[in-house]
Amino acid sequence: MGRYRIKGGYPLRGTMTVRGSKNGILPILASVMLTEGETILHHCPLIADVHLTLEVLEQLGCKIKKEGRSIIIDTKGCKNADINETVQKMRSSILFMGALLGRFQQAKIGYPGGCEIGMRPIDLHLKAFRNMGVVIEEEKGLLCCDGTKCIGKKINLDFPSVGATENCMLLAVKAKGITKIYNAACEPEIVELQTFLNQCGAKIRGAGTDCIIIEGVKVLYGTEYTVSSDRIEAGTFLCGAAITKGELELKNICPDTMRQVLLRLGEAGCLIKEQKNSIYIKAPQKIKPVSRIHTGPYPDFPTDMQPQFMSILTLAEGTSIISETVFEARFKHISELCRMGADITVEGQTAVIKGVKSLKGAYVSGKDLRCGAALILAGLAAEGETVVENACYVQRGYEQIEKVLTSLGAKISLE
Ligand code: EPZ
Repeated sequence: MGRYRIKGGYPLRGTMTVRGSKNGILPILASVMLTEGETILHHCPLIADVHLTLEVLEQLGCKIKKEGRSIIIDTKGCKNADINETVQKMRSSILFMGALLGRFQQAKIGYPGGCEIGMRPIDLHLKAFRNMGVVIEEEKGLLCCDGTKCIGKKINLDFPSVGATENCMLLAVKAKGITKIYNAACEPEIVELQTFLNQCGAKIRGAGTDCIIIEGVKVLYGTEYTVSSDRIEAGTFLCGAAITKGELELKNICPDTMRQVLLRLGEAGCLIKEQKNSIYIKAPQKIKPVSRIHTGPYPDFPTDMQPQFMSILTLAEGTSIISETVFEARFKHISELCRMGADITVEGQTAVIKGVKSLKGAYVSGKDLRCGAALILAGLAAEGETVVENACYVQRGYEQIEKVLTSLGAKISLE
């Protein structure tokens, strides 16, 4: 499982180039199944979830070549196959349901595993697919889908689910007729998926708004595409500068995708300077409390930044409040932060964080990807040594975080 060992008290200083977006590339990799020929992706993050998704594509008969941060995928020999084991390991592989139906009109896929942040049901995906004429039967935990009668329809999502929006796009892009997705998710990753698919010959418009219109086409072709930067990795490092009283310049990141995070970092007393494709941050000597943050669908404060931001607020000069409205179990970092001396109480989906003078190093457990990241940030600021268990979760979404942090002045190693 691996663990990070951190010696606190060293400010982060310097420049880092933000890597490719995990939540941007994963739906793109699934959507490559819809294309004929070769696709070349650049600026790919070399993280566990990408490696796992490439394994799925190979199981489905695609030829994969990796050249540094570029990945070449040839779908010529691809075939429908059983990918259930991987679906259990990684939630985002549910997107292969839409991709396999879009290419083969058939899909047999297992229920994706829940994880530490919640049940993660897929009822919205299934309801939308059935509405479009996909026949879905459950056999021994497998979802057997027949999409031969799939046709474009009006889809109303009960919640602007990112995954359900992406899956509907993948199902609709080669379906007969026109599909309209109402109450669609507006995340930048949805816009990125539209951009990629349109470059392959799709006819999609409206991504970034709550209504996406897709006109089915017969064929999609491989293309060459550069994945955008990871706004959550960027936010995590900005929080690292804030909590260690440091100063960072992030390159290759568009501030427009991080409005809420930058606003809150400013409220916390950080100096932020934006350029078109970079962000500079200088931390205050003392973090200011932030009155009320509630996570929500984009453009609200991103749930994927909630644990990391809470780490900063544990050292604020006052009391802050964070409400988590997206996932029902995304407070697993709180008990671990309290073991480090934080003063946090939880009432339902709301956490009250009373700032303390300092955190103490401790042996803590990273229970999911962003929980682990939050604990690493806390360890960077804590007195003494902190060990963060379950490095494997962090490695799902951050590429060699210990090396990047070390290059910025942190004392951290991976064991
Ligand atoms: C995506 O997950 C991201 N993952 C998550 O990032 C992110 O936190 C989430 O969107 C919200 O922004 C990827 O893109 C790979 P949802 P997804 O469907 O698609 C409920 C990270 O840390 N829901 O928008 O699974 C669900 O339970 C990860 O990088 C249903 O009830 O998120 C949750 O409460 C974590 N039924 C809410 O909607 C459904 O059918 C939002 O889920 C689908 C979702």
